[in-house]
Amino acid sequence: MADLKDRYLVTAALPYANGRLHVGHIAGAYLPADTFVRFLRLMGKEAHFICGSDENGAPITFSAMKNNCSPQEVIDKFHNIFDQSFKGLGINFSIYGRTHSDYHTKVSQDFFKTVHEQGHIQKHTTEQVYCSECKMFLPDRYIEGTCYYHDCGKTGARGDQCESCGRTVDATKLKDPVCMVCKMQGRPGTGCIEVKETAHWYLRLDTFQEDLRKYIDTHPEWRESVKRFSYGLLDQGLNERAITRDLSWGIPVPLEDGQDKVLYVWFDAPIGYISFTRQYFESIGKADEWKEFWCNEENGLLHFIGKDNTVFHAVMFPGMLLAHGGYRLAGNVVANEFLNLEGNKISTSRDYAVWVDEYLEHFSPDPLRYYLSAIAPEASDSDFSWKDFQQHNNGELADNLGNFIQRNVAFCNKYFDGIIPERKNKTEAGDKMLQEIEDARKEIGELLSEFKFKFALERMMRFSQRANQFFAEETPWQSRKTDMDACGSTIHIGLLVLEAMSIVMEPFLPFSSAKLRAMLNVAPLKGGEWNQPLTIKAGEKVGTAEVLFPKFDDDLIQPRIDDLNK
Ligand code: MF3
Ligand code: ZN
Repeated sequence: MADLKDRYLVTAALPYANGRLHVGHIAGAYLPADTFVRFLRLMGKEAHFICGSDENGAPITFSAMKNNCSPQEVIDKFHNIFDQSFKGLGINFSIYGRTHSDYHTKVSQDFFKTVHEQGHIQKHTTEQVYCSECKMFLPDRYIEGTCYYHDCGKTGARGDQCESCGRTVDATKLKDPVCMVCKMQGRPGTGCIEVKETAHWYLRLDTFQEDLRKYIDTHPEWRESVKRFSYGLLDQGLNERAITRDLSWGIPVPLEDGQDKVLYVWFDAPIGYISFTRQYFESIGKADEWKEFWCNEENGLLHFIGKDNTVFHAVMFPGMLLAHGGYRLAGNVVANEFLNLEGNKISTSRDYAVWVDEYLEHFSPDPLRYYLSAIAPEASDSDFSWKDFQQHNNGELADNLGNFIQRNVAFCNKYFDGIIPERKNKTEAGDKMLQEIEDARKEIGELLSEFKFKFALERMMRFSQRANQFFAEETPWQSRKTDMDACGSTIHIGLLVLEAMSIVMEPFLPFSSAKLRAMLNVAPLKGGEWNQPLTIKAGEKVGTAEVLFPKFDDDLIQPRIDDLNK
């Protein structure tokens, strides 16, 4: 088994508080992180799980403008939706913080000040696009105009990139620039754009170029995509990066000449991992404990993210931590590829997504957790399809796993009055099945400890298949008429399999695991059970059998498909 440490801090990317959560977010970061944390705890490890809402930055203010409300209303709304969606899916953080909070503001400002005092931040004046109507400097993405490359010259180029020729654009040079912020508010947006000087602070990432390369070099075990991407950036050479913005919404730059400027949202957001960790340990009366994870390499520190966040977690944030000094860097950045939907890209703006809150109105959480792990976009992009979801639920959860659970518990109730029979006949087939229990625990554990969630789930289902096969080959429905000892031995082993199953399925299917344990009449999991002896004993009573995984018929699935195509 890949060596696990005794103590871990696990972070999941902070969702940006201007849109709901969809299945792409869940598959990308939150589900694998939650699965891993649950696994760690079952292994008897200490694991803290940190997340929170990312609430600063320009897009929040623009959402507010569009919806005629305040930025505070925007972030409150989404913070609450996130909270509900995560809880509904069983994604349980140790703390779910907010970056628009006093606590985080202070930690981020102190961080900035320290890096500034160390001399790793420099101030420069540059020219930026300013709108005299909005009375603000415009973020590049909110300017549109005509591309100035003469072999292109197309309209509709954005201030950061021209959609037509794909090249990076300097917003101050776009021809006939239009202010999209004006447009959003019903003004023409033309004739109001100027180019003005403004001062900003830049983080000297170039200073840490070699240290960052060494950092990546020391982690050959990381996913290929993360290494490839990071080396790509390092090979291009790191430059200084602006870490402040001309905005009113965000964390004020803590310098005398920093009025009307805020920290760049990608500077303060990852600091959220630190500030929330501190807040969490403070709240449980262990104010200094955060250092065990942020300053001590002995303990585990892991970031789970979607691939679009790789640059910030593998290069920017580590660069910030090095510039600050005194911090250790993460042991792994577990990034996932994208999840598509019915063959198309998920699009928040076009409302083309499976939203978590909507999903939960129609289904229980475990089938989605199962499906998203089964198609986890670990090594390449993958596709969510409702039909495929239905098939995975009906064919695998219901027919394979659910069936085995149901059969054994029902059999025990029907023919043994619910009293777990003894294993009186020691057969080779029975021994093999008992060995398979141990092999499954070990191998699923190995795969999970290497972040191979999809393979781990496949291995779990193979365990269930073998158990089904064992049941079929032992034919207890026949032996119960001829040889009750043989029959009882089969059921005894079957129930042991179920107890083991309730443990190995917990990281993936926590709700069903809890129900299964109630069915078996064994105590709820409290941690450490993965490698402990099973507790089922002959003579004890099981509970009643319950259908854990109902099938989904077309009536339930078709409306979801119709919804998407609306
Ligand atoms: N809000 C970002 C996103 O949704 C993720 C921020 S992760 C953090 O893509 F590290 F900055 F916190
Ligand atoms: Zn162009």
